[in-house]
Amino acid sequence: MCGIFGIVYEKENPAMGAVLVKAGQRLTYRGYDSVGCGVFHEDGSTELRKDTGKIEDVDRRYSLSSLSGVRGVMQLRWATFGLPDQRNAQPHYDCDKNMIGAHNGNIVNTSQLQEKYRAEGHTVRSDNDGEMVVHAIEKHYDKGLPFEQAVIEAARELEGDYACVIGDIYTNRLFTVKMGSSLFLGVGEGFICCSSDLPSILDLTRQIVVINDGEFIEFSATSYTIRDIRDGHVIERASELSPLSPENADKGEFPHFMLKEIHEQPKKAADLLHFLEASREVDEFVNAIHKARRVFLVASGTSYHACLQGAYYFGKLAQLPVCVAIAGQFIDLFGDTVGPDDVLVCVSQSGETKDLINVVNYCKRKQVGRILGIVNVLGSSLMIRSEVHLPLVSDLEMSVPATKTFMNQIVMFLYLAAKLAQKRGLPGLNTAALTADLPRYIKETLTKAETPCRDLAEQLHAVEDLYCLGYGLCHPIAMEAALKIKEVVYSHCEGMYSSEFKHGPLSIVTEGYPILFLGTREDSGMLISHINEVTCRNGKAIAISPASPEIRKNASQMLELPEVPYYMVPMAATVVIQLLAYFMSVRRGIDPDFPRNISKTLTVD
Ligand code: M6R
Repeated sequence: MCGIFGIVYEKENPAMGAVLVKAGQRLTYRGYDSVGCGVFHEDGSTELRKDTGKIEDVDRRYSLSSLSGVRGVMQLRWATFGLPDQRNAQPHYDCDKNMIGAHNGNIVNTSQLQEKYRAEGHTVRSDNDGEMVVHAIEKHYDKGLPFEQAVIEAARELEGDYACVIGDIYTNRLFTVKMGSSLFLGVGEGFICCSSDLPSILDLTRQIVVINDGEFIEFSATSYTIRDIRDGHVIERASELSPLSPENADKGEFPHFMLKEIHEQPKKAADLLHFLEASREVDEFVNAIHKARRVFLVASGTSYHACLQGAYYFGKLAQLPVCVAIAGQFIDLFGDTVGPDDVLVCVSQSGETKDLINVVNYCKRKQVGRILGIVNVLGSSLMIRSEVHLPLVSDLEMSVPATKTFMNQIVMFLYLAAKLAQKRGLPGLNTAALTADLPRYIKETLTKAETPCRDLAEQLHAVEDLYCLGYGLCHPIAMEAALKIKEVVYSHCEGMYSSEFKHGPLSIVTEGYPILFLGTREDSGMLISHINEVTCRNGKAIAISPASPEIRKNASQMLELPEVPYYMVPMAATVVIQLLAYFMSVRRGIDPDFPRNISKTLTVD
């Protein structure tokens, strides 16, 4: 949510604007309400261009790409404090325009700070919280403190979770601070840059420095100094070569990242399974779950649906009942009851979701619950705070809707449940066979389902209201289908356990009302019963399941999944609902990579 990028070169670089715009395009998934670029020139002058809209539009209107500069700061905004207009767009100047700074995250005491800084004589030009960061530093710097000391003093005034980048006209350096929001440093030949996420750094350099919360960095084109924000003491840390590939930040031959990432799933699932087969952390993870008094699976949004799937796998394969919790609800619902012997499996693509990090921080503060992380972004807040973590190995996911990371989350849960079953002496899945077979099944589904999904999307794309019902193992996928359709098609779609539908929602059914049904062949008895409750009221029941003459006979229409073993039906169903949502979205003329109002990394409450 919001993206920042800052870079320092040794000399004036005529390509500065192009570098900033490219970084912005790479971070677009973090916010697209407004964008801005600020540059410092070698002669001490500055320029700041910013406005509402996506980066390509603002570039067209303000020629961002034509900017030159020796240092540059770029920000993409996902609006919270202040309307998404030009005044509130970032970066911001300080009062006398000697500094340019930008932030991501939230400064929660913004209204108090606005009053305070105005009363102290500052020129506050916007309603935006990012401007508070600039004045907070300016205030102490103008009193004659060294810049690094001004940063330390400012951090004491700013409440909330944020990261920022800021520089002044006097010295060829930038400062960047990490206080709860993600931040990385990239060290290249003749430049150093910082960014809220790796996609904007990786095609400049793969030498990355992971920054921890409570640290700030002063960097020039050739060196950097990490300091602790509490007392300024220097922390030594070298850069490391990132294993992530910059090619993942390009669409390649695909029209959208979402479609590209859906197609990457067989390969990414194979990568994950091979990684897990060789990983020592798997045993540690499984042991912790095995010994726990209670196990909570905690996450938000799509990752929460993966946890629901995890609960089915742990219950069915390993006979372990687990409690699935929405991250934002966890503290209120379970906080008081969590004990030291409980395990929280925290799941997140970004590893930065505030709702989840709140849970982790709460448990750490109270010294309860062991935190195990399942996370895609290495170096993220969740990874750093986890006692043990398992990476999703999905590589960069650029599209706002999560696809390949969801797939690997459910693959991860199936694998862990199979391992736990082995440990408990229960008959279950052979993980080596899973590794050999599952990627092939996902690939087969992709090949077979593309045309039927396109056809079904053609039929459904204009529908404004529908349900998606799942039974048994496919219930979480029905929930995920509904989220995806809401997210990228902008239609109302409710996901529900299919037996719940008769307890009220059934009254919505009229002639032709569309309802998607998801289930395995093993669950066909129940599925058929629930389908009939709809079809006998003239509703349209569209079944998505492995081939079954019985289901086909009872449903209004059917989209057949390939023949896959029972526990892998959710993976095949996932491919289908992702493709369906994608084609519906594109048919409506929506860009599914960047759905309106949404950011990929939600670092606010
Ligand atoms: O990064 P996380 O997995 O923690 O994100 C949680 C949700 O915001 C996320 O899964 C969201 O629902 C998806 N982008 C939807 O496709």
